[in-house]
Amino acid sequence: MEIEKEPTDGSDLTIKDQMNKTTVQVTINGTTSTITWEQNIYLLDALLDAGITAPYSCGRGNCGTCVCKVEDGEIRLRRNFILTETHLEEGLILTCVATPVSKRLTINYDQF
Ligand code: FES
Repeated sequence: MEIEKEPTDGSDLTIKDQMNKTTVQVTINGTTSTITWEQNIYLLDALLDAGITAPYSCGRGNCGTCVCKVEDGEIRLRRNFILTETHLEEGLILTCVATPVSKRLTINYDQF
């Protein structure tokens, strides 16, 4: 998508901002929330910034404490020393090293 005109009301920033964000629906401890994920940070940081009490420990893809299940959408793991191919096929991810691919993501900490 290319933006050609140069609006004076700042609306181009709104469009660019939306292009760099992913909407995340997260279920944890029986509560479902929706947050906005800035694409330049890891998913765990977006969750914590939004006030979600997401579990974590190492923050580096080493321990598995931050694991949750992707129900819809796509992410990329920057590193992974814990999850097996079977885990990945089941949709499990490490939020501390997850970067966004899709514009919408649904994750669940209660379903794995
Ligand atoms: S917090 Fe340790 S793997 Fe994510």
